[in-house]
Amino acid sequence: MKSYHRIAYSDFPSWKQLNSEDQVLVRKAYEIAENAYAPYSAFKVGAAVQLEDGTVVVGSNQENIAYPSGLCAERVALFYTGANFPTTKIKTICVVAKGDLLPIDQLLSPCGACRQVMLETEIRQNEMYRVILVSQNERTIIFESAKDLLPFAFGTM
Ligand code: THU
Repeated sequence: MKSYHRIAYSDFPSWKQLNSEDQVLVRKAYEIAENAYAPYSAFKVGAAVQLEDGTVVVGSNQENIAYPSGLCAERVALFYTGANFPTTKIKTICVVAKGDLLPIDQLLSPCGACRQVMLETEIRQNEMYRVILVSQNERTIIFESAKDLLPFAFGTM
């Protein structure tokens, strides 16, 4: 029997069409992207995590001359959240980027390692959270769950 897995997401031409709370999150992600330490890739990534109590935790990518020692913006923000607010649920994560590594119409879509961490964070809090991805020309898509970015993941089938 052939089965299919469908993933729903919302698609907007610009993040300026989002509600005001989400727009604030996008702005905060862009703001923190400026703090990226990215001398090797020149690609600045920002992540902003909205918690249920209104707190926003932000992170940017931090590179190292020994390449694998660096960390993506998403994991900087999520691990900081886990360390400092272990019992507060995440509602939304927004990820943005600036740089020539991607064409401007391409969404900053998290790497596989970040998806794995995003998924486990969701499973840990026992509640879905939204994922907002933004391209440099403002196109924005929103997933309702981190699981949508890593279907058929290890331990979830
Ligand atoms: N990067 C992120 O911060 N998040 C992603 O989802 C993909 C890539 C960073 C890692 C590295 O510092 C730079 O972007 C280029 O890959």
